[in-house]
Amino acid sequence: MLPNLNEARKRTNNIVNTIKYVKDSKYSNIGVGKKYYIKTYGCQMNVHDSENIKALLEEMGFSEVYRMEDADLILLNTCAIRENAHNKVFGFLGRVKHLKEEKTSIITGICGCMAQEESVVNEIKDKYKWVDIVFGTHNISELPKILSDSIKNNKQAIEVLSVEGDIVEDIPVKRDSNYKAWVNIMYGCDKFCTYCIVPYTRGKQRSRSPKDIINEVKNLVKDGYSEVTLLGQNVNAYGKDLSLNYYMGDLLKDVAETGIPRVRFVTSHPWDFTDDMIDIIKKYDNVMPYIHLPLQSGSNRILKLMGRRYTKESYLELFNKLKTIPNVSITTDIIVGFPGETEEDFNETLDVVNTCKYDSAFTFIFSPRIGTPAAKMKDDISLEIKNERLQRLNDLVNKYANINNQKYLGKTVSVLIEDKSNKEGYLMGYTDTMKLVNVKCDQKYLGKIVNVKITDVKTWSLTGEIVK
Ligand code: 5AD
Ligand code: SF4
Repeated sequence: MLPNLNEARKRTNNIVNTIKYVKDSKYSNIGVGKKYYIKTYGCQMNVHDSENIKALLEEMGFSEVYRMEDADLILLNTCAIRENAHNKVFGFLGRVKHLKEEKTSIITGICGCMAQEESVVNEIKDKYKWVDIVFGTHNISELPKILSDSIKNNKQAIEVLSVEGDIVEDIPVKRDSNYKAWVNIMYGCDKFCTYCIVPYTRGKQRSRSPKDIINEVKNLVKDGYSEVTLLGQNVNAYGKDLSLNYYMGDLLKDVAETGIPRVRFVTSHPWDFTDDMIDIIKKYDNVMPYIHLPLQSGSNRILKLMGRRYTKESYLELFNKLKTIPNVSITTDIIVGFPGETEEDFNETLDVVNTCKYDSAFTFIFSPRIGTPAAKMKDDISLEIKNERLQRLNDLVNKYANINNQKYLGKTVSVLIEDKSNKEGYLMGYTDTMKLVNVKCDQKYLGKIVNVKITDVKTWSLTGEIVK
């Protein structure tokens, strides 16, 4: 089955059912004694999908290796959001091909968002005939069958569903961390911002049932996890596709009440952010005062062309409300060089950055994605100008990131210690405002939330020591 962008654009009225994944023991021996290597590109959603893929492979007997040269199965879980994500994957495929020529028994596969793109799959069929399996974001749970069929038939197997199907619960998961966990609360996106490929590659919005989400979090609490991140492309719209009269504010409250030490959520769209959510963030200490609120552009003209459904003024109004959350840190995403963006439009963006003084921002040059409306818009701004705007924007973003971090000097903050730091004798972790902190401390603090006094401040990190 090949993907089809026209099909993917459709929003069907089909009822979304929830089905349970059941392990089929007929696939249990396929990977025994074999090793897999998986490389993940893109957002947290993809990182979490890879955690499911790893567990599915381990159910089949495979074990994980971290060097692709050691693997019998190499999988690339891809991202389609911008052209450079594509280029990275095709670049990496060159290295994989080289290995496959040396050891023909290696199985190679491509999955994730690029596999949902018609043009990419056509390219794989034509130019990358040696790639063994291709599957999409809607049929991850069928990996054991796809893999087994490909081995049996010994020919390229492409299994990509254009339109999403049911929500599959109980897919096994091999989490990367013992302390922090990703929890999907919804799949897909119906916003169709004109530049964005996600509504095509991830399908229509489907919220998981509140019960399934809360049970997952309760189990994580039992297993000793300290932090959960509720994941969705547009989490504030959670529940709008269910007829339960139960929305993001309700979910956040119920998750906070499970007693998980920390909970946060990404990503928010300014359109659906309710006062109820703000009240819950203020009321519950374990809801982290950290909000990622993509701006994309500060120009009303460009926002309209982007199909963002808000204005600079309404964005700032929401931003000011969010600023009433004590100690809150707010980050954003900005695209420069959208088709037709003038110097005045760009200055409007800089103006919002000067007003909001973000803690941090991810900044991108517009990248046309085949099949999206913006890819067809007239784009006569040179790459040179786009690069120059990006540079000016980044300079401003860095300035405010540094100013915001300076406020932490001498303060005591709570940090979840999660890993070794690059700095000798230090571990690293994040504050509840998502500031990276290098902490001078002993290994025994791994996985613990500790009080840290900040002794040094840089633009992108803090340094500190534990206080009792
Ligand atoms: N070009 C550039 N940036 C994009 N983003 C999404 N689509 C594109 C595109 N076509 C950015 C947006 C989004 C973030 C995840 O990626 O800023 O918020
Ligand atoms: Fe893409 Fe986010 Fe817009 Fe959805 S809300 S279309 S994921 S940018």
